[in-house]
Parts: sequence; C-alpha cells; structure tokens
Amino acid sequence: MIGIYLSGTGNTKHCVEKIVGLLDKTAAALPLEAADIVEQIKNNDTIIFGYPTQFSNAPYMVRDFIKENRSIWKNKKILCVATMGAFSGDGAGCAARLLKKYGATILGGLHIKMPDSVCDSKLLKKSIEQNREIIIQADKKIESVAKQIGQGKYPKDGITWISHMAGLFGQRLWFYKTTAGYTDKLKISTDCVGCGLCASLCPMKNISVKNDRAVAGGKCTMCYRCISRCPQKAVTLLGDAVVEQCRYDRYIGA
Ligand SMILES: Cc1cc2nc3c(=O)[nH]c(=O)nc-3n(C[C@H](O)[C@H](O)[C@H](O)COP(=O)(O)O)c2cc1C
Repeated sequence: MIGIYLSGTGNTKHCVEKIVGLLDKTAAALPLEAADIVEQIKNNDTIIFGYPTQFSNAPYMVRDFIKENRSIWKNKKILCVATMGAFSGDGAGCAARLLKKYGATILGGLHIKMPDSVCDSKLLKKSIEQNREIIIQADKKIESVAKQIGQGKYPKDGITWISHMAGLFGQRLWFYKTTAGYTDKLKISTDCVGCGLCASLCPMKNISVKNDRAVAGGKCTMCYRCISRCPQKAVTLLGDAVVEQCRYDRYIGA
C-alpha cells in the first residue's frame, strides 16, 4: 500500500498520512511532486489517493498527473480521498472516474471535511477553535472508516450516481472555466521581498525569483500553498488580500 496526495495547506497530507498509518503501519504517504512518485506507484497495488476538492472537482494537477501517467493505473486498487471545506458533491468521484477509465479498480471514495483553505476569501472562515474541532471530527471519521475497511467495507462518498449529479449541477458546471486548466491568475504584490519561499514550495514549480521579486508563470493549480505561507502575505489568487493564512499546522498548534 502507498498513500499519494496533493495538499496545499496540509489538510489532505494529514488525512492521507492518518488513514495510511491506520491501515498499514509500514506504508509511506508521498506528495504527487515527489521525484520517485511514478516508480512508487508502479511498485504498489493498493493506493490511497488524496487531494483537496476545488469547486467540486479534482485540482487540475491531479487530473493532469493521472492522464500524463495513464499507463500506471491498470489493475491498481484505489481509494479516492477528497478533503473539502464544506461541500464537494462527487469530489472523490472526479479522480475515481478518470482512474477507472485507465484500468484501476475503485475500492471506494472518502470525503473529509477540513478547515477551508482559501486564504484570500472571507467565506467559510472559522476561528482556530472551530477549525480544531473540525479536525477532531475528521480524525474520528478517518478512524471509523479505517475500522470498516479492516472488515472489508469501503466508504462510497462521492462515487455514487446521485453525488455525481450533486457535484456537477451543484458547482462544477458553474465553475467550468475556473477549473478547465491551470491558471495564470496568481498575483504577487509589491510587498514581495523575493525570499523565494513560494518558489521552493510550489508543487508545479510555477514560481521563480527574478530581480528580487517572485514571478508567477501560467501553471498554477490553485493549491494555495504559496499564499498560505508567504511571510509578507504578498500572494493572492481568487481574492485581492490575504484574510487569513490557512494551514493545518496552525490549528493543531505545531
Ligand atoms: C481553489 C479552491 C477551491 C475550493 N473549492 C472547494 C469546494 O468546492 N468545496 C469545498 O468544500 N471546499 C473547497 N475548497 C476547500 C478545500 O477543498 C479544503 O480546504 C481542503 O481541505 C484543502 O486541502 P489541502 O490543505 O490539502 O490543500 C477549495 C479550496 C481551494 C483552494
């Protein structure tokens, strides 16, 4: 078994690491950007595949990764895990359908509510205590699901026909343009001091530092990792100012 994930602000990383740890203590959980990720996937039959829901869709980087490596999924047994701030319709189903198309067997789908990660929007923002409680509830769900899986029962979140309709008509269609590809809309303000942290963190290697300023390219997957970490709060995407830097480790006090 192996866990693989895309995680912007740490939520999905935590969830995948936790579920993998409960199912198989010897198994590793690796980010999609790990240098040997394809080799690692090839070497494992069972995969726990996690990502954050974006507008009831899988991040473009996840869909792109699945398609780019279409030959590696045949006969893999995969549990799709989608973390979300509130509602994801068929978040887990979005990758599950693609993986099935390339020959994978879908073991199940799991949706886990976690703190919202959109740092530059006031929508869905909660206090640290409320986010801590959300994480406690998420951990309980993961523990209960791991027990069920131990008995051979996999969750079916987001992979049913009804959830497909809910995700499609509830959100995905309305945000079709926003999620159709990578975005070139990442904004870096004059507050940037060129420290390069964003460039070193970006899973897409979409940011570089030129003349002491970070410069974004056109391949942002909207994960919000740079926005959640920038010491100057100089990076934004959907909004125009950082409201709160959302990070899993802030809520657990690490
Ligand atoms: C661009 C973007 C779009 C999002 N869309 C949704 C959504 O449609 N539904 C939802 O419940 N959460 C949505 N979220 C929240 C994230 O899915 C959620 O906070 C997730 O746990 C973040 O995981 P991460 O820390 O691993 O990146 C969105 C976040 C981002 C950055």
